[in-house]
Amino acid sequence: MDLYGRDLITSQEWAVEELEAVLDLAARMKADRYGPAYTSLLRHKTFFMFFYNPSVRTRQSFEVAATELGGHAQFLEPKAMRLKTAKTAGETVEDAAQVMSRYAAGLGIRILEDQIGAYGEGDALLREYARWGSIPVISMAHDKFHPCQGLADIMGWSEWFGAGPGKGVDPTVLKGKKLLLSWGHGALVRSWSSVQEAILIASRFGMDVTMAYPEGFDLDPQVMGWAKDNCRANGRTFEITHDSQAGYEGAHVVYARHWMSPQAYQDGQLQKARETEMALRYPEWICDAAKMALTDNAIFTHPMPVDRGSEVTDEVASGPRSCVYDVAENRLHVQKAVLALTMGGR
Ligand code: CP
Repeated sequence: MDLYGRDLITSQEWAVEELEAVLDLAARMKADRYGPAYTSLLRHKTFFMFFYNPSVRTRQSFEVAATELGGHAQFLEPKAMRLKTAKTAGETVEDAAQVMSRYAAGLGIRILEDQIGAYGEGDALLREYARWGSIPVISMAHDKFHPCQGLADIMGWSEWFGAGPGKGVDPTVLKGKKLLLSWGHGALVRSWSSVQEAILIASRFGMDVTMAYPEGFDLDPQVMGWAKDNCRANGRTFEITHDSQAGYEGAHVVYARHWMSPQAYQDGQLQKARETEMALRYPEWICDAAKMALTDNAIFTHPMPVDRGSEVTDEVASGPRSCVYDVAENRLHVQKAVLALTMGGR
């Protein structure tokens, strides 16, 4: 299997076998973190990390990943680059992408929330860089997708339902397990990237998917349609409920997170105050121990940062069935595998 040079904008665009190859290599890298088989795979190579928005896990884990592979990750911010935007003159993506391709082995881009004026603009930007550049473009979370998070989710959940964290990854253990993706209230106005990626990749790996959210908080209908199609192709179910409790019944993985409404972007701007005011109308949309008791001994998952007290209680987020730190750790291992396979060489 040859993944060298491939863009990773969403897991939906990679074959399941290709995603499995990433997970398999990530598990081997996790088991032998500083082993000589891996420490020179990016030797002398640089991965550009282009951040429009802040990050804890993504920046740190990509920097560590490049270091552990013998390469380097360089942090870039748009304000330091004189780029052309809708409002300012400057360098085009056509020029920037082609020049970056002469220097680096790959380019990661993060663009979310208030850095776009309409849903889809971030995705279009990544695809514009991919169009003009000749190096792999990796989403580090954009308005539509977060593929590295999705891969880390699958790796973490597989470990928990398999032999345990760090003891190998067999995603077939997820077949027939039920993922509940539940909206959570709170003042953070979050993009759709992580949750859309989660329903896509979980449905590719044979999970039943239930989405629970208040009326008016649909995700992208095209992405929900793909998740439904993935479920159907695997003989699994895709369900939606607007009840804050019903979806917990029989769940094996509970993913509770806030996301913005489809009306979040108006007049070319994120309507943060209006979204916050709307989201705070639903205090019953919190994952707590009483709801977790309805599940089939589910694990609690979240891409982090967790909005404790709004999306989930401390008791659940820090409880014995929380896999959040294992999933966060796995960002490092899956990204090492992605960097090695797409940029390391054939
Ligand atoms: N999950 C995630 O992408 O975390 P950061 O926003 O901290 O990078």
